[in-house]
Amino acid sequence: MRDLPVWGHGHTVTNKSSQLYPFQVTVPKETNLCNSLTWRDTALRYGRMTRLLHWSIAVLMLWQFTGMGLRLVLGRTPLVGFFVGWHQPVGTVLFLLIVIRVIWALVNRRHRPDHGAGFWGIAARLGHLALYLVMVIVPVSALLRAYGGERVFAPFGFEVFPAQQPPIDWMVTIGEALHGELAWLLLALIAGHVIMVGVHEGMWRDGTLARMAGRRRAGL
Ligand code: HEM
Ligand code: HEM
Repeated sequence: MRDLPVWGHGHTVTNKSSQLYPFQVTVPKETNLCNSLTWRDTALRYGRMTRLLHWSIAVLMLWQFTGMGLRLVLGRTPLVGFFVGWHQPVGTVLFLLIVIRVIWALVNRRHRPDHGAGFWGIAARLGHLALYLVMVIVPVSALLRAYGGERVFAPFGFEVFPAQQPPIDWMVTIGEALHGELAWLLLALIAGHVIMVGVHEGMWRDGTLARMAGRRRAGL
């Protein structure tokens, strides 16, 4: 009898066909050695659901910042009008995706890739925490302003929040104070995040990107 590596879990694998090396191995269910990507996260990589949320949010954020960046640079043009016209519906979808993402992150918090104990590990954890905090506050502050405002909020063509008469001042004030400013801070945090992924890939070559994209390079 002999131990050999087996891809799969929860199975007892028996090899009786070989006269020289017959073996029997049971791989525990909780050991995720399976080569297919699971929905849930594991200690080695982020699962399908986290990836779906991470990349769809990244693409929609890029859309939001492209539109608002163009508005800043070009002023009112038809192209800018196109982007700005989509800002509230895309922002509202982003809000819903971010709520699901936060819940999913909490559910998976004990089954995620570890960032280690040293300086860079703590920096990564704090950086991700900051991304989460600002990522939540940016759409929430805009929705608060929309809820308290004197105009109907109908991002998808039907009324989501009615017009407030008179407007709820504190909600509008919070939205005015936080939304735009924190959105640019979020862009700076995202830029820092992407630069650090570049450092992981280009200098440390530790397979960090593969935990969020791709399979093989995560060691599986
Ligand atoms: C995560 C999602 C969102 C991102 C990344 C985002 C980003 C931005 C950015 C960068 C600006 C430009 C700020 C400036 O010109 O200084 C802006 C403005 C604006 N956003 Fe959003 N936004 C998001 C969600 C929303 C939502 C959900 C709404 C609607 C409820 C909304 C409504 C507005 C409005 C009305 C403005 C123009 C007034 C202002 O500057 O505050 N945004 N947003
Ligand atoms: C091109 C853009 C992006 C790239 C290449 C990228 C890449 C990555 C990679 C490789 C990881 C895994 C890091 C690790 O395990 O240490 C990660 C995690 C993460 N990323 Fe990004 N990312 C991008 C955009 C964004 C954006 C736009 C946001 C948020 C607004 C974001 C938020 C996060 C967060 C919070 C994590 C921690 C894992 C989680 O809870 O989802 N990323 N990213």
